[in-house]
Parts: sequence; structure tokens; C-alpha cells
Amino acid sequence: MTAPMSITHPQLFQRLHAAVGDAGLITDAEGKEPFEVDWLKKWHGRSCVVVRPANTAQTAEVMRICHETHTPVVTQGGNTGMSGGATPDGSGAQVVLSTVRMNAIREVDPLNNTLTAEAGVLLAHIQEAAQEAGRFFPLSLGSEGSCTIGGNLATNAGGIAVLRYGNARELALGLEVVLPDGRVWNGMRGLRKDNTGYDLRDLFIGSEGTLGVITAAVLKLYPRPVARSTAWVGAESIDALVQLLAQMRAVCGERLVAFEMMSNESLELILQHVADVRAPLGASHAFHALIELADTQGEGLADLLERGLGDALEQGLIQDVVVSVTGAQTQAFWKIREGISQAQVRAGKAVKHDIALPISAIAAFASQADAALRAELPDVRIINFGHLGDGNLHYNVLLPLGTPGEELAGTTERLNRIVHDLVAAANGSISAEHGVGQLRRDELRHYKSDIEFDLMMRIKQSLDPNQIMNPGKLI
Ligand code: FAD
Ligand code: MLT
Ligand code: ZN
Repeated sequence: MTAPMSITHPQLFQRLHAAVGDAGLITDAEGKEPFEVDWLKKWHGRSCVVVRPANTAQTAEVMRICHETHTPVVTQGGNTGMSGGATPDGSGAQVVLSTVRMNAIREVDPLNNTLTAEAGVLLAHIQEAAQEAGRFFPLSLGSEGSCTIGGNLATNAGGIAVLRYGNARELALGLEVVLPDGRVWNGMRGLRKDNTGYDLRDLFIGSEGTLGVITAAVLKLYPRPVARSTAWVGAESIDALVQLLAQMRAVCGERLVAFEMMSNESLELILQHVADVRAPLGASHAFHALIELADTQGEGLADLLERGLGDALEQGLIQDVVVSVTGAQTQAFWKIREGISQAQVRAGKAVKHDIALPISAIAAFASQADAALRAELPDVRIINFGHLGDGNLHYNVLLPLGTPGEELAGTTERLNRIVHDLVAAANGSISAEHGVGQLRRDELRHYKSDIEFDLMMRIKQSLDPNQIMNPGKLI
């Protein structure tokens, strides 16, 4: 660790101002406020200043200043994260480094099937730019109109098309990163093969702003699907949906792009709290799935979906199905699915879990966890939904209305232990796609083996010896 250069706040502001100019600095309380609270309104902090560099060179200068002065830095993209990773702590000593002004698409290369974008570009803009070039960028999340590609890579975001295309990690070929000491690592290679030693790119992806600031990325593009076919399915158990998933994969292969699941309790919550949605099926079912096929040519897609689901109906795996016949109906299905985050916020306090399990272990996990939670808290509402096709459940627990604030921490700890112990026993993960942030930092320490934790600490120490990158998050 280098010795900190002694500096006062006004001196720090002066140096940062020289680096980023008027447009790049926010110092007033009102201007800083939106950067100090997260999307869920769960974490509130205070920053000493918000810096918004316009490019990589400015970001490098900001980091040099913060490294020299030992000033902690919280990188923030669209601020849609679910784990409190982009919110400063309450000390008022941390700088928020917002990437939103680094928002240029530098290049689209249709022959190499790549798109090069700066970190602050919104995910939706990347999708549109790919589309304009006759290509497809498959990462898709409910927050795509507000989250940034830098944030997606920093959290290794998942979403609704991982089953077919993989998560953010699998969609990035190259990165540009400003290191904690201000040096710039240029790893902007659009290569599908590159075995030249340790994979630095993969180190920064998923590092949640604790190792450096991602300033740009080379992303993979895919052929544009021209047809899609979507269905909503009702089943009586999660096990039946797991069986259905296996059958649909066997029948549809790569054309199966989404297999999203929600319990009836989750659907009820959405119907209660989201405007202009209605239940897709007439009768009530314990579990539902939203299934989508897509292809670069349209012929036979709907037949394939209907054949797969028809077989499942005959076998009694599912009890009801509606296949979308119009674009509006497809949108209505997805509106229900995407309403779940907002519905939970409106419903009250929730203990959120973002877990990954081997798909074959999901049914046993759900029945054990349901029973254990109900034994602990009989009034509990379990909001179980997620990306079944990826083995990723958002197995959330809505606390009874009126749960006193002072009981929250203790209850959360007890419920986390029940759920995460079962996840660990099934060789699963306690953080599938939302990142660790501050929400799961202690849980990570509890479940990571000593050797894994030690290796992570060594990496952190060697890249960020002054411990300025997103302190209090992840590690
Ligand atoms: P932020 O929230 O700003 O930051 C998240 C983390 O990344 C922080 O630790 C921050 O320090 C770090 N960071 C941000 N930018 C950089 C950078 N350039 N360099 C280094 N570190 C950086 N997530 C999913 O995975 N799947 C979903 O299906 C999904 N659905 C969502 C639906 C809704 C309605 C909402 C609100 C959120 C959803 N999310 C989902 C969570 C969130 O949108 C993702 O985690 C997203 O990737 C965060 O991007 P962001 O730009 O908002 O990052
Ligand atoms: C989702 O799958 O909808 C998200 O990850 C958001 C959430 O968990 O609320
Ligand atoms: Zn999700």
C-alpha cells in the first residue's frame, strides 16, 4: 500500500474538476442524491462528489488522483443493480464515478459479428444498433432501458436469453479497463480464440467495480432471429416444469431461447400490483412457464412449439397452454413476466435470493425450502420465480405485513441461512446473476471455501493495493 497524499476535500474537487471539467462534476446535495440511492430504495449512502468522465483518458486521470489520495471510488452505470453494489456507504468520503457520459458506440463490424461500445451505453441502445446492422445482441433484462453495458459486464448479468446465448461473460470478446492506479489495460480484441495466458477479461467481468473501471467492450453479435413463437403454460408442480424443460430442449434444440417460471403466488402478486395485465389462462395452476422459441427462419416454428407442448399435455405434464397468435399477445405475456420486480417493490419488504442450482436439483430444493421456511415463519409468502432454463431461481420471501423494522436484520439472517444452506447442500450458488454487492457480502464469506476466498483476496490486493475500489462490496 502506498502512503496517501494528504489532501483536503476542496483540493480533491479542484483536481477532479481539472480532470473532467464542469460537465463532469456534481458537488451539490440535490444533484448527487439520485446517485446515492439504489433502484430498490433499499440502500442509501452519501458521496463526497459525483464524477462523470466523458472518456477513457478522463477516467484514467480520475483514478490516478483517487489512487494517490487513497480516495474510495464507487463505479456506477445505470444504477439498476439489485445488490447495493453501486451505492456509496454513509461516510460521505466515497467518490461516485458515473459512466453515463461514456455512451458512444465506437464501431459495428458485421463481418466479424462484433460491436464495440463504451461502458455507459444503455443495453437497449446496443440491441438497437445491432438490429440496425442486421444483427442481434441477445442480452435482455427487464431493466434494459436503464442499465448500461458496463454494469452488465461488471455484474455478469443474466436475464431471459441465457439458456440459448449465455450470460454477459459469454457475450464479451474484449474489454478496456482503467485500473485502480489509472493505467489503462487495452484488451479490446474481437477474437474468438486467444490463448495467450491468464484470461484478464474474465477476471474483470463479474468483479462489480472492485478491481477496475470497465470503460469499453467488444461484444459478440448473432444472426437476427426473424420469427418467434411464444406460449404460456400451467402446471401443478415445479418438477413437471423441469421435465417439460428437458423435453422441449430435446425437441427444439437451439431454437428454445427462453424458459421462464413463476409460482401462482408470484403471478397473483403481479396481477395485484401491475396495471393492465391479466392472467393468460382461465384456471389457476400452482406453477406457470413462459416459453419462447426463435429462429433465423420462420417455417415450422409454431408447429414445433405446439408439438412439444401437445405431447406434454397428453402425458399430463402440463394442464393448460395458450400459444400466442399475435405480437400483442406475446408482449402481454412478457409484460406479466417483467412486472415481477415492480410488484415485489410495491408489495412490501422482501428477503431476496438469487440462487443457481443444478436443474435436476430444483424440485427437491423447492419442496425442502418451502417446508423449512413455513416451519420458521408460518405466514410467509414465497415468491418463487426465475430463469428455470438456467437453473436460476429468484426464491424470494415476502415478510408478513407489519414486520417491525428492528426484526428485519435477524429475520433476514435466519431465512438466508435456511435457503442458502439448502443451496450449498445441492452444490448450488448463492449469487446467480445479480452480483454480491453489499447484500450478499457476508453470505459469500460464509459459503466460499478458504482457498477460494484467499485467492480472491490476493487478486484484489495485487490489483488494488490501496483498497479504493468499491470498498465494502463483494469481498
Ligand atoms: P449498476 O447498478 O450501476 O452497478 C452494478 C454493479 O456494477 C456495481 O457494483 C457497480 O460498481 C458496478 N459497475 C457498474 N458499471 C461499471 C463499470 N463500467 N466498470 C466497473 N464496475 C461497474 N439482472 C440480471 O442479471 N437479470 C435480470 O433479469 C435482471 N432484471 C432486472 C429487472 C429490473 C426491473 C431491474 C431494476 C434490475 C434487473 N436486474 C437484472 C439487475 C440489474 O439491472 C443488472 O445487475 C445490471 O447488469 C446492472 O447494470 P447497471 O448499469 O444498472 O449497473
Ligand atoms: C428478474 O428475473 O426479473 C430479475 O432478475 C429481477 C428481480 O429479481 O426482481
Ligand atoms: Zn432474473
